[in-house]
Amino acid sequence: MKNKLFITILFISLLGIFNVQGETPIEEGKSIFATRCAACHSINKVLTGPALAGVDERRSIDWIVNFIHSSQTMVKQGDKDAIAVYEAFNKIPMPDHKDISEEKIKSIVEYIKSETLSAAAITKIKKPGKLRPTYTPLTVQNTGFFISFFIVVGLLIAGLLLAVHSRSISQELADKKVPL
Ligand code: HEC
Repeated sequence: MKNKLFITILFISLLGIFNVQGETPIEEGKSIFATRCAACHSINKVLTGPALAGVDERRSIDWIVNFIHSSQTMVKQGDKDAIAVYEAFNKIPMPDHKDISEEKIKSIVEYIKSETLSAAAITKIKKPGKLRPTYTPLTVQNTGFFISFFIVVGLLIAGLLLAVHSRSISQELADKKVPL
């Protein structure tokens, strides 16, 4: 009986761990965006950098990857769009993010797409009093926190059961006088 319970709990804990690793591209993109891009970018509002809504429609994915890896390299190479956006934003250079893989940049773009509002929705939120935040980094962190919390609790219970169980096994063996 106890054995079954132990295995069930272990299984649930493992599921929890896989669940954390198996986040969708949009979720992955959302958390990278929150930590690496949100200081300068919003999806639907101009901040230090341009609003990124619809960026996948005005640029190719290769362009976006190159730009995020090193926007200044593109400016120096004479890429027209890179120069135009650099000049439009008062020549504030966007810092290089060479460590973000192409795969991860695609996840960020997926997240941007999922958050891109239609033109109609944007005019609506531009009305005073109707502004709403476009991203909520706390939610991501909270979900991660709760999942890890349940994993830790699950593992603790599993460990406790294992301890209790192994004691009862040795008790059983002792009762049967099996030489250990
Ligand atoms: C320190 C501020 C800063 C950070 C951090 C930053 N950017 Fe930028 N970004 C800018 C600025 C300023 C521009 C305007 C163009 C330029 O600097 O050349 C820009 C431009 C862009 C463009 C071009 C947009 C267009 O319409 O062509 C993309 C795409 C972009 N950023 C994506 C990102 C992503 C994705 C991240 C996070 C991995 C990020 N940026 C982080 C400041 C930043």
